[in-house]
Amino acid sequence: MSPIVTHKRVLSGMRPTGPLHVGHLLGALDNWVKLQQTHECFFMVADLHALMGEYENPVNIRENSIKMVEDWIGAGIDPERSTLFIQSEIPEHSELAVILGMITPLGWLERNPTYKEQLREITGRDLTTYGFLGYPVLQAADILLYKAHVVPVGEDQLAHLELTREIVRRFKFLYKKDIFPEPLGIMTKEARILGTDRRKMSKSYGNAIDLSDSAENIRKKTVSMITDPARLKVTDPGHPEACNVFSYYRIFTDETKVNAVRDWCTGAKKGCIDCKKEMAETLTKRLEPFRSGDPVARRAEAEVALKKGRERASVVARQTLKEVKELLHL
Ligand code: TRP
Ligand code: SF4
Repeated sequence: MSPIVTHKRVLSGMRPTGPLHVGHLLGALDNWVKLQQTHECFFMVADLHALMGEYENPVNIRENSIKMVEDWIGAGIDPERSTLFIQSEIPEHSELAVILGMITPLGWLERNPTYKEQLREITGRDLTTYGFLGYPVLQAADILLYKAHVVPVGEDQLAHLELTREIVRRFKFLYKKDIFPEPLGIMTKEARILGTDRRKMSKSYGNAIDLSDSAENIRKKTVSMITDPARLKVTDPGHPEACNVFSYYRIFTDETKVNAVRDWCTGAKKGCIDCKKEMAETLTKRLEPFRSGDPVARRAEAEVALKKGRERASVVARQTLKEVKELLHL
């Protein structure tokens, strides 16, 4: 008997708001790559969701979308196995979002903790929009169109997923028909990696190592990293546990290497500059798939993947919307 897990469908998405960095790789993407071995996966470029924050200056959304898919493929997402598509190319997302909006009580949206938090914290842009309040309704449409069972998301998205589940229950209650599974949110573990300044790695902090950084950029960023503050001279013994560079060694190299670094650090056998240069080389090698080969070919591969993905996603989306409209006498 084949394991039941293989029949389950996964949907997840990312907003194309800029270059992906190693935090995305170790957090979401490595997890997606694993999931595609056991599940039927739909991975979506959430460009409509990106518009929520970028509506005043949307010029980069299209380019970021395609670039993001290049990075997904570089990370090991296989477009033959998984369906990669752009949200706005499947009009059923917008249509189902409007329909779900009719049954979603305003209070559920206003109570959403992510909504309240972002409204407080995002100060640079005007988010007092209808689209921002309705963000999780569109997200519910994304998930329900594909009748996804499993939705891998970051911790900040779990509240949105709970709302999707509530919408499913309400839909079932109102129309007495069970057409959507209640999706299970699985939390992508936070990437263990910190930014070059030891804060959470984030584009907005300017402390991220991007997946498509050049060798030169990787070197510059790595050399700028803060090390053990007690280690001023090469002859001072270091404390690797207090050093961010050492935590990168733990993430990107094996135990033998980690032990060697601990040894040269605590024994004052190698200076921080050399230690960082070696880390830069390791990172450059690890990120090679995101840079190697012909950029034109890489772009073409992403475009082909998106074209195929659009066709596959469209078949499922159309079918689901048809069921919904029939049920609602539309
Ligand atoms: N809101 C998600 C984020 O910002 C992106 C997203 C949009 C998504 N639609 C989704 C994630 C559906 C999972 C399922 O990260
Ligand atoms: Fe950090 Fe390496 Fe310097 Fe030790 S030698 S403090 S691990 S950069």
